Amino acid sequence: MEEKPDTETIQCEFYSDAAKYWEKIPATVDGMLGGFGFISHTDIEGSELFLRSLFKLNRAPQKNRALDCGAGIGRITKNLLVKHFKQVDLVEQNPKFLEAAKTYLDTCASKIGTYYPQGLQDFCASTKQYDVIWCQWVLGHLQDDDLIDFFRNCQTSLRDNGVIVVKENVTSSDKIDIDSEDSSVTRPLRELKYAFEKAGLICIKEQKQKSFPRGLYPVYMFALRPAKTATIE
Ligand SMILES: C[S@@+](CC[C@H](N)C(=O)[O-])C[C@H]1O[C@@H](n2cnc3c(N)ncnc32)[C@H](O)[C@@H]1O
Repeated sequence: MEEKPDTETIQCEFYSDAAKYWEKIPATVDGMLGGFGFISHTDIEGSELFLRSLFKLNRAPQKNRALDCGAGIGRITKNLLVKHFKQVDLVEQNPKFLEAAKTYLDTCASKIGTYYPQGLQDFCASTKQYDVIWCQWVLGHLQDDDLIDFFRNCQTSLRDNGVIVVKENVTSSDKIDIDSEDSSVTRPLRELKYAFEKAGLICIKEQKQKSFPRGLYPVYMFALRPAKTATIE
């Protein structure tokens, strides 16, 4: 009888299968958005409004440094983050995308800090670095435990008044959808919120992205702060 793989092997395969999937994807905006490159403008508009609302909070984040997580070729860095922050760092598991980012971001190169070619499951930023940590369309590539560890690491790398932004697909049902093609999961709202709570984060703002085409997963934006620092906003 064939031997069953152990949990560690299954976990490794979850990440290596995703890496193999992304190796085949072109380093373009359309590639980053699974053939839905045409929604990029609407997506950025929604993010822009959300980010601006964070700058109006009582304890607004400063505008020094942001981190783009699962940055791909730097679509969000270029169209959103460099417009608001003095410096943006990128973390992305696929080195080919980071190479493409260097060209894609050439018009704003002076604002780009460090490119980290790493999976978020292995990434650990130094303490008190970032005013905003932006995580979009990547957290479904992390397994639950790694997601919680990642959020915990993010908390330590936030500067005072810093905020973690999560913008992700969620399922309309209460169930997790598994995508074996790109080796990711789509979580229901309840699961995402449970991960925030388990990591010690409090959601200070939540908004649904408007005007995406029908048939796509609902997309939500969350602004999160470490529970121990969160006060009334
Ligand atoms: C759907 S694309 C989104 C890219 C970018 N966030 C955007 O919205 O344009 C997902 C990105 O996550 C990256 N990715 C997948 N698994 C990852 C992991 N474990 N750690 C970091 N990045 C990962 C992929 O290589 C790809 O660039």
